[in-house]
Amino acid sequence: MSTRKFAAVAVGMTLALSLAACGGEGAGSGTDTDTGGDTGSSGEESEGGLIGVSMPTQTSERWIADGDAVKAGLEEAGYEVDLQFAGDDIPTQSQQIDQMITKGAEALIIAAIDGTALASQLQAAADAGIPVIAYDRLIRDSENVNFYVTFDNFNVGVQQATSLLVGLGVLNADGSEGTATGPFNIEVHAGSLDDNNAHFFFAGAMETLQPYIDSGVLTIPSGKTEIEQVAILRWQQEVAQKNMEDVLTAAYNDGTPLHGVLSPFDGASRGIITALQNAGYGSADKPMPVITGQDAEIASVKLIADGVQFSTIFKDTRKLADQAVVAAEAYLSGEEPEANDTETYDNGVKVVPSYLLESDIVYADNIEALLVDSGYYTAEEVAAGQTS
Ligand code: GAL
Repeated sequence: MSTRKFAAVAVGMTLALSLAACGGEGAGSGTDTDTGGDTGSSGEESEGGLIGVSMPTQTSERWIADGDAVKAGLEEAGYEVDLQFAGDDIPTQSQQIDQMITKGAEALIIAAIDGTALASQLQAAADAGIPVIAYDRLIRDSENVNFYVTFDNFNVGVQQATSLLVGLGVLNADGSEGTATGPFNIEVHAGSLDDNNAHFFFAGAMETLQPYIDSGVLTIPSGKTEIEQVAILRWQQEVAQKNMEDVLTAAYNDGTPLHGVLSPFDGASRGIITALQNAGYGSADKPMPVITGQDAEIASVKLIADGVQFSTIFKDTRKLADQAVVAAEAYLSGEEPEANDTETYDNGVKVVPSYLLESDIVYADNIEALLVDSGYYTAEEVAAGQTS
């Protein structure tokens, strides 16, 4: 796999789907209380048939935005939609998909909680001739996944690490070498091991950081460099906070400075920030380290605007939702959706044809250009740290 340091900037708005994310979370407010829920089908007469949309959780605002955008796009295209959130509970997601099949869904769009846990549902779908589209997260170990819509996940990791290097001054924002030579102390975190994406993000990030670790510009004082040592189960904010607290206790209690933290996801970043604030970081003599993220969640965008978090990765959920709708429409018209990658995503049984989108690094100085000018958020929402 090649290391592409900078993805093409793809800010164009190709869609008029409404983004209906709700509820921001502050740096310390993470909860895991969503219990799954039926947001109902459209209830309107539709000629296009029923499509089941299974999302992992409502804890993170991105999945609410994804679910709403997919539902709106499908309804606009004339389909009826059964949208379900599974409360990050694997049996709940399995049951919800079983019910979608029983209700007569003609296609399934699934963002899996555990990419390996849906084999029997997928077999039932295949037996009923229902095409399955994996949404953002690859469904693994099954023949019965027809298509995958996602982002260039390896490159997301490259972008996360690149932004960390930019924050430290090792690189300039344009990718050229910066003037800072360190040595800098950093710590790394990774997502949930049962999510295929977590491995791609971490691989992309570590491949980017490795030359600087080898040359001594970067050091990882905790010694935790393997994904198994730094994974955050279910991407939870509380787990990220605990992991960061453990690292601070083990490697920084003697006054060792911490300069940078690779965080895989904005919710995790907020947990990490809480751990750091509780340990006194964010003051003049103990500045907040450079902290990365992912998803451009509104609460974290505000933290970036306020100079607390350094960067995030913007993955335009409107474009992903649009690709899922395009793929579903293709299947229901008896066609194959168009893939732009047929090599990268081997799910253990087969290479799943994929449509990959590009992502962008968000820094304080391009929030407006990337997120406001594209209509993803309003300037008021960024200022408030929550969607209206
Ligand atoms: C991943 C996804 C990320 C982030 C994370 C936690 O699968 O690609 O964008 O949302 O889950 O929800």
